[in-house]
Amino acid sequence: MARIIDGKALSAVVKEEVKAKVVELEARYGRRPCLAVIIVGENPASQVYVRNKVKAAAFTGIESLQLELPSDISEELLLKRIAELNADPAVDGILVQLPLPKHIDEEKVIDAIAREKDVDGFHPGNVAGLWLGKDCIVPCTPAGVMRMIDSIGCDLNGKTAVVVGRSNIVGKPVAKLLLDRNATVTIAHSRTRDLAAVTRGADVLVAAVGRPRMITGDMVKPGAVVIDVGINRTDEGKIVGDVDFDSVSEVAGWITPVPGGVGPMTIAMLMENTIRCFVEHNS
Ligand code: GUN
Repeated sequence: MARIIDGKALSAVVKEEVKAKVVELEARYGRRPCLAVIIVGENPASQVYVRNKVKAAAFTGIESLQLELPSDISEELLLKRIAELNADPAVDGILVQLPLPKHIDEEKVIDAIAREKDVDGFHPGNVAGLWLGKDCIVPCTPAGVMRMIDSIGCDLNGKTAVVVGRSNIVGKPVAKLLLDRNATVTIAHSRTRDLAAVTRGADVLVAAVGRPRMITGDMVKPGAVVIDVGINRTDEGKIVGDVDFDSVSEVAGWITPVPGGVGPMTIAMLMENTIRCFVEHNS
């Protein structure tokens, strides 16, 4: 039976560390870090994520500024709001919750955020930095995945890692972070032939596809570390991951639950990224 990597507990530890750091930073710089969060429209999932991000900020003592913009806002006006936040010296980090309404070009919006305030690590400058091996802002979910792997003392050196999913937000950056630790990394996706054969080779398996319970026990190597990035709502309204927890936990050595796994870690890493932006902004 697999052991659980408890993201909720680990995120609580990280948030306590951030909270202590905020006290120290306020004493040193005379103000607290400030995170601006923009949400466009009323996507219910996005509303939950943003609420949790603002709540975590409040817990850690990070100031937050929430901009709730109507779904029919023009791209031009959204870009103008971002430009204002970029220019505001009281704002250290800017996050635009994705997805955005269809009439808005996400790429343009991400590009518009000042690289040094890009707490999501989505800006091309930060993406390039990651792939070039520079010390730069790392996207929150991939950073959270790595922190969870580290928390169990897993040495990735020479291990086989398989990432299922190739998104810019998770799949690609997490693959690079695993590679940086000398894992042998495969990125699998919807066109991968015989996916089960590929995933069965993984010492570390990261599922980030957005398909409910698609990774089943027969696809997992005995003893593997399985990280489930998926957050899917079933027809019955239950939140489940991309991993079929019941069958996989019979085979894996370690597994992350959903909910209570990667989700809370993403938010904790966002707090760390905000601190980082604040420190760099002030130095
Ligand atoms: N939508 C889904 N995940 C994320 C994330 O990590 N950041 C932002 N801004 N939007 C998201």
